[in-house]
Amino acid sequence: MNGALQNGFAIHSGAFVLTTHSPTEVARTLIDSGRQKEPFYVFDMDEAHRRIQHFKTQMPRVQIFYAMKSNDSDFMLKLAIASGLGFDCASPGEIHKLRQLNVNPTSIIYAMPSKTAEQMIYARDSGVLHTTFDSSYELKKIKQYWPDARLLVRIRVEGKSVYNLGEKFGCGHDTEAIKLLDEAAALGLKVVGVAFHVGSACSSVDSHENGLRYAKALFDHEAKAGRRMNIVDIGGGFLSDRTDRVDQAAKLINKALDEYFPDKTVQVIAEPGRYVCDSSYTLYCSINNVKQTKADDDNYDIYKMAEFILISFE
Ligand SMILES: Cc1ncc(COP(=O)(O)O)c(C=O)c1O
Repeated sequence: MNGALQNGFAIHSGAFVLTTHSPTEVARTLIDSGRQKEPFYVFDMDEAHRRIQHFKTQMPRVQIFYAMKSNDSDFMLKLAIASGLGFDCASPGEIHKLRQLNVNPTSIIYAMPSKTAEQMIYARDSGVLHTTFDSSYELKKIKQYWPDARLLVRIRVEGKSVYNLGEKFGCGHDTEAIKLLDEAAALGLKVVGVAFHVGSACSSVDSHENGLRYAKALFDHEAKAGRRMNIVDIGGGFLSDRTDRVDQAAKLINKALDEYFPDKTVQVIAEPGRYVCDSSYTLYCSINNVKQTKADDDNYDIYKMAEFILISFE
């Protein structure tokens, strides 16, 4: 249904579109109408758009491959497509969703270093070209099921982050990565770059810079062996709570790119997820109960809602 609901609001294809009012005002109108009984989200598309533009301005050399695992709503994906972003997918389901939206598979990186044979075959047959690996086991599967894939070796980069992905993914950047690069070459596989992820919500601003330094050493190793890589993937982890935090990391990243990768034919990509979308979606729901509690000397407020329980630290 398309049409006006009230001044400043319209419904397009079943969703509210903001015209002149703030997201909070839209939410208030919905609640006051009494028709909205279930919890709902308001998507502030302007905010997500601002984030994307800010990232592009801060790091002009870095192409965004939006990590759609952080929010794969059609609105978010369509905004990403309209903004000219590529995509980081972690599953065939995500690849399928993008295919439905006519995204060119060459704009997708299947950035998951541990894939089943079926998942590889799905990506391969969908026309996706790039993926990551961090183990010898994965390389052998790739050789069997996706031998013409363009590969990025995923290395571990430690940082101070809320979600440390290095526990699950990535190989050691020195000995382990070098062994894997040589093994890939011996298998006749094509390694085109290095990928890393410093962990989500990373507060150590120099982590991406460290990752770039490790990546440079691996580029040098490949060059010495007569092989050329041309992609650096700096992952996600960009802090989104305050914009200047991304600005600080950006300064170090730009400087490191100039120093380690002055050759502009080296493509630099990033996979921001939370940074792009976390401040643009707000959940509204009614609170049925509030309970104060204490555990390990910390005070908590527990908000009980029909569908969720939210814990807030004091
Ligand atoms: C491979 C990969 N890229 C990107 C992201 C997005 O990270 P963030 O939301 O910290 O930007 C993740 C998050 O889990 C990831 O695993």
